[in-house]
Amino acid sequence: MKNKLLQLKDKIFTELTNVKDVQALVDLEIKYLGRKGELTQILRGIANLSDEDKKIIGRLANEIKEELREKIREIKDIILEKGDENRDVDVTLPGEKIKIGHLHPLTQIQNELEDLLHSLGFMVIDGPELESDYYCFEALNIPPHHPARDIQDTFYIDPASLKTENKKIDLVMRTHTSSVQARAMEKYGAPLRVAVPGRVFRSEATDACHDVMFYQLEGLMIDKNISIANLIAVLHQIFSGIFKKNVKVRVRPGYFPFVEPGLEVDMSCTICGEKGCPSCKHSGWLEMAGAGMVHPNVLRAGGIDPEKYSGFAFGIGLSRLVMMKYGIDDIRLFTSGDLRFLEQF
Ligand code: PHE
Repeated sequence: MKNKLLQLKDKIFTELTNVKDVQALVDLEIKYLGRKGELTQILRGIANLSDEDKKIIGRLANEIKEELREKIREIKDIILEKGDENRDVDVTLPGEKIKIGHLHPLTQIQNELEDLLHSLGFMVIDGPELESDYYCFEALNIPPHHPARDIQDTFYIDPASLKTENKKIDLVMRTHTSSVQARAMEKYGAPLRVAVPGRVFRSEATDACHDVMFYQLEGLMIDKNISIANLIAVLHQIFSGIFKKNVKVRVRPGYFPFVEPGLEVDMSCTICGEKGCPSCKHSGWLEMAGAGMVHPNVLRAGGIDPEKYSGFAFGIGLSRLVMMKYGIDDIRLFTSGDLRFLEQF
């Protein structure tokens, strides 16, 4: 046994002197020290020896193993250093592409929308995602017990779970970016032009078209003599800018308690050019936004005199817009973190 070990040691060290590159070194390490390696096998066999032999052979085998490990490390260092010195550099070869991340498709379109709205004189602002019932509903002409509350499947926060003394605060995850309307009016007064991109939350069963979190972009313009014509003009600019072609915008009556009149805004289908196709459900039009003229009660809640000022508001489904622009058929892909999806943008 002892001789066998010493012979093996000689054999390994001779082979080691012939090793020229890291790969050969790795192969050699596996051949002898790997799970099925020759030296490993011998080490396993030690268990069957007499106690006396176990001691002597065991120690020897372990010494050889350590020595070998040490040597392999040494040789690896030598090879790597040499490799560096001798490496040929061909400066004419194209560089290796460095993989860097990029912006999420939602962020890309959000940035484009912000630029477009900036150019129309809108200021881009933020608002809280965890919002008071007041700003999410009441200031928007939706009092408690108003049936319109049923339209939005709200996540209510259990007041008992709050760390504050005031257990009376009603907090919700905002169901729409309209929650920032009254906040902006209070803070900046009239005239006002703001755009509010952001996440909104609804307690919905998820499927390809619905998720519990999605993105919207709110627009609000208040000034003297604002009309629906201004609203349509702004939306026309925005949609044409995002889809990079001159699209048509049409409005239909719609109901939202915070606007009067309330409108649903459609855009001519960019895929079929109004002829009708599966994307537009064969209607030639795509539903893009809810909108309308700001209700006098909302202006009042924001401290603005409805006798002097009027305004329009719109809420674009940002997630839906991106889905339409790129033909994405499942909203859940946005938050999937799947690189096969993300790397396409
Ligand atoms: N907040 C509405 C929604 O989420 C959209 C909307 C915004 C409608 C502004 C009218 C005016 O459905």
